Amino acid sequence: MKNKIIFNYELAKSWIGEEELEHFLPEIKQAHRYLHHNEGPGNAYTGWVDWPEQYDRPEFKRLSETAQLIREIADAFVVIGIGGSYLGARSAIELLRPAFYNQLSPAERGGPEIYFAGTGISSTYLDDLLRLLEQKQEIYINVISKSGTTLEPALAFRSLRAMLEQRYGKAGVKKRIIVTTDRHRGALLEMALEEGFTTFSVPDNIGGRYSVLTPVGLLPLAVAGIDLQQVMDGATKAYLLYGRERLVENDAYLYAVIRNALYRKGKTMEILAAYEPSLTQFIEWWKQLFGESEGKELKGLFPAGVSFTTDLHSLGQYIQEGLRNFFMTTLWVQKSRSELTVMAMEGNADGLDYLTGQSIHSINDKACQGTMLAHYEGEVPSLKITVSEINPFSYGMLVYFFEIACGVSGHLLGVNPFDQPGVEAYKSKVFTLLRSP
Ligand code: PA5
Repeated sequence: MKNKIIFNYELAKSWIGEEELEHFLPEIKQAHRYLHHNEGPGNAYTGWVDWPEQYDRPEFKRLSETAQLIREIADAFVVIGIGGSYLGARSAIELLRPAFYNQLSPAERGGPEIYFAGTGISSTYLDDLLRLLEQKQEIYINVISKSGTTLEPALAFRSLRAMLEQRYGKAGVKKRIIVTTDRHRGALLEMALEEGFTTFSVPDNIGGRYSVLTPVGLLPLAVAGIDLQQVMDGATKAYLLYGRERLVENDAYLYAVIRNALYRKGKTMEILAAYEPSLTQFIEWWKQLFGESEGKELKGLFPAGVSFTTDLHSLGQYIQEGLRNFFMTTLWVQKSRSELTVMAMEGNADGLDYLTGQSIHSINDKACQGTMLAHYEGEVPSLKITVSEINPFSYGMLVYFFEIACGVSGHLLGVNPFDQPGVEAYKSKVFTLLRSP
């Protein structure tokens, strides 16, 4: 199996009758129409649906050239953004590049170290980053904000820009700041035009959490040396596969239906589990995608995430025997990038001699299977999404699989999956406390 995503819900079938799926058919038909024919709630933000076919090729080329230049010149690249303006890029870099990317030699990396800022308001984090950057020679910054007015990235940008100005002077800063923002409006766009910064745009009809395949995610990915064409080709394959209307032919829709069927039975939380630490940030991206899309109007599945087997030694107890109000979805990678095997050890002190020579990944596989069975026996419905292997192509596929599943799932839930009115509430309180004019 190469570059495939397989969805399996065998271990949830005792909670859902086949006939129940039938009830979803008219709703699926409607959700499909909403997404593919620009109808229904949030229809102004469905630009991501056809994006793998429609994306802006000239901008993509310009972006690749800019990234190549940064790879050749910079030794540090800082991505400033929050929510949908950073989670996609961070998850892709963590997934597709080696675990200790920033610690590799420049030759092994082939590009700059990559850091993230503006993902919160911690003064300590920002200060530590500024100190670290003092040791770097060539620093480039990509500030990403669709609205151009978000507090967290704006604060980080002020500090980082001031540091760059002190280091390189006003003229030197111009080529070192790249702005990704709205094409037509916003404070950041105005500033970029005034200062002559290089800009890339976020399409009007694509919201933050659906924007990783636009310049929002693609510039940082390209700077990290990830093959963008492969990512977009993977997304295109997924667009064709998961653009099918019929439930029996579309596993992304089936996933959306199963999670809604379980939700209607009181399973109000979904826990996404992965067995590769490199998927930890991908889970964060997934949490934002589903949490912001579905949690509204007093409805929605709470998206939680765990990293296994690590969290089997912490949250595992709760999952096995705690409140039964959730289901598990396991994101399993079939083929590991590594072929490490278990080493022999003189004396067999740990009693694990019988595993000598076995691949460590096959043991992880058994851990995954065993855990799913244990949870099932503990009355937890268990879904499994298997991806053949991790590469830029399958990453593009996975992103699109979850985006389309999320769009459909939100419509099945009866909410607008493309707005986030609740996010404004905290902002307005904070600005009141800050006495914003
Ligand atoms: O998905 C969303 O729309 C949000 O998470 C935004 O991405 C996040 O709030 C950042 O917004 P902006 O890009 O406008 O700074």
